[in-house]
Amino acid sequence: MSEPKVVLGVSGGIAAYKACELLRRLSESGHDVRVVPTASALHFVGAATWSALSGNPVSTEVWDDVHEVPHVRIGQHADLVVVAPATADTLARAAHGLADDLLTNTLLTARCPVVFAPAMHTEMWEHPATQENVATLRRRGAVVIEPAVGRLTGVDTGKGRLPDPAEIFEVCRRVLARGATGPDLAGRHVVVSAGGTREPLDPVRFLGNRSSGKQGYALARTAAARGARVTLVAANTALPDPAGVDVVRVGTAVQLREAVLKAAADADAVVMAAAVADFRPAAYATGKIKKKDDQEPEPIVLVRNPDVLAEISAGRARSGQVIVGFAAETDDVLANGRAKLARKGCDLLVVNEVGERKTFGAEENEAVVLGADGSETPVPHGPKEALAETVWDLVKARLA
Ligand SMILES: Cc1cc2nc3c(=O)[nH]c(=O)nc-3n(C[C@H](O)[C@H](O)[C@H](O)COP(=O)(O)O)c2cc1C
Repeated sequence: MSEPKVVLGVSGGIAAYKACELLRRLSESGHDVRVVPTASALHFVGAATWSALSGNPVSTEVWDDVHEVPHVRIGQHADLVVVAPATADTLARAAHGLADDLLTNTLLTARCPVVFAPAMHTEMWEHPATQENVATLRRRGAVVIEPAVGRLTGVDTGKGRLPDPAEIFEVCRRVLARGATGPDLAGRHVVVSAGGTREPLDPVRFLGNRSSGKQGYALARTAAARGARVTLVAANTALPDPAGVDVVRVGTAVQLREAVLKAAADADAVVMAAAVADFRPAAYATGKIKKKDDQEPEPIVLVRNPDVLAEISAGRARSGQVIVGFAAETDDVLANGRAKLARKGCDLLVVNEVGERKTFGAEENEAVVLGADGSETPVPHGPKEALAETVWDLVKARLA
């Protein structure tokens, strides 16, 4: 098979230099990348850099190599077009169907999936003109990645930062893998919880669990690549923020409950992949609990934590909201899973067996997804993102 053809559109924002890393990742993973910068982009990074890194010619206007009709051919032959960074100006021109340079011509002739990764100052991003242009592009089937929050040009901080190129690359990889299927979760808001809660005992100790958050992050990434607006409630994870995902950080089960309930208010689906502690210490010692030489330690008294999955399943914030739970079991996996599904009242329960190379901390997983309708969907051993795709397929079928 020939290498997938990717057009990397670069527009004139300060983050243009970050597109060099995206280009490298795309090229090194076997994609044939053609960079199409705007004239403004070349103020930030020169054509020589794009040409040398991609191994392909670079032009900004339709008037170069006219015999090859580049204004039509580049878009026609692309398997993916990704514009990173996408300026407010380029989003506006794309939304209005202008064709005043090679990039906008390419966007009009491309019939493949298109990803925009906007980056600009918060005011430009929040302006109704930009928001309407983004909504137009999404309605037409493009994946527009929400910008990240952080340091912008100069001393400003806020929403508008280009997400990490490694994470934009992940979105491109997933969108390419889905091919013509397109962003089938566009217009949906989904909430995913990930990681493991920590219940403090004293200022230095906590009761925790082994959840790394990788499955929840895979769910968030795949949903974003399928066009959803994603809120990721992350408990004690050490993973990079997925591109285009709003990350809310929490520590304890009580904090996780608050964040999930808030985000779920307008969500179409909630997927509870986090390992939430069932119990927490009844008392929190404000000073470190000391070892006393001649005394046995005091027993730790535990109290119940709120059952977030049961609570959101019982009091759905919207009718038709789909709720998904996770269960990690060590024995009687399916029987325990069925009982948990009935007890919690959710629509789907992903049951996985805790074991070597599976579940906690691993890159792979293996599970059965149980449906409240009696369905059973086995997901064979494989990457956590494959399980995530199956979960979203099942959620989507229930949303419809
Ligand atoms: C130093 C500098 C940084 C800029 N950064 C951004 C940016 O991050 N996002 C943006 O939308 N525009 C930014 N602009 C403004 C764009 O360069 C300007 O709107 C230009 O017309 C965009 O053209 P293009 O969309 O064809 O690339 C910046 C301008 C300058 C001078």
